[in-house]
Amino acid sequence: MIQGVIFDLDGVIVDTAKYHFLAWKRLAAELGFDFTEEHNERLKGVSRMASLEILLSVGGIQHLSDAEKQQLAEKKNRWYVAYIEEITPSEILPGFLPLLDFLKNHQVKVAVGSASKNARTILTRLQLLDRFDALVDGNRITEAKPDPQVFMLAADELDVPYHACVVVEDAESGIEAARRAGMKCIGIGSPAILGKADIVVQSLDQINFNELLNLTDSIKSMSS
Ligand code: G6P
Ligand code: MG
Repeated sequence: MIQGVIFDLDGVIVDTAKYHFLAWKRLAAELGFDFTEEHNERLKGVSRMASLEILLSVGGIQHLSDAEKQQLAEKKNRWYVAYIEEITPSEILPGFLPLLDFLKNHQVKVAVGSASKNARTILTRLQLLDRFDALVDGNRITEAKPDPQVFMLAADELDVPYHACVVVEDAESGIEAARRAGMKCIGIGSPAILGKADIVVQSLDQINFNELLNLTDSIKSMSS
């Protein structure tokens, strides 16, 4: 049986991807180019500064100094923070709270493993902060997904062996990070993008809880 579940935050527990997108799109508009949802897909799970680099490459903008890049990232973050300050528990994605209750009832430990430096703010707004046994966020890691550091640190804090952990992720980079950590993973979203996950479902409420419990023993199809 599994012993720990590590949830990504953005796009798994709450749809903050849409707020990241709005803020990045606004920055791109200010810089004079369009930034589409398709472009935004490349930013999921990617750290703030790496996201900025991708955005600048989309706009063909080169030769900015580190200080200028820092200013742009800070500007985007101010807009993003203004959005997330309005988040309420009603935005917790369907299926998450029942799954959390189920895992607690089965003595499975739960953590958040997120690249976001705003994770604590978001979890506080969602009134979820004290529901987790560990929180590893973007302030605590030096290597971004697909590096496995964030998930390994979370498992260490849960005191659960990596092979007994399951990661729940919506980003390709996060699936790769889970695999490199030696953990099973469930992808939330499109099989075309998350095909390397052990199981892919469209949304959290499609997860078969009992099959999740046994995921480290055998891989079965959870999708209906
Ligand atoms: C998550 C999101 C990314 C975001 C990153 C950093 O991984 O999926 O889109 O860029 O966190 O978030 P932050 O809140 O620190 O800018
Ligand atoms: Mg995510």
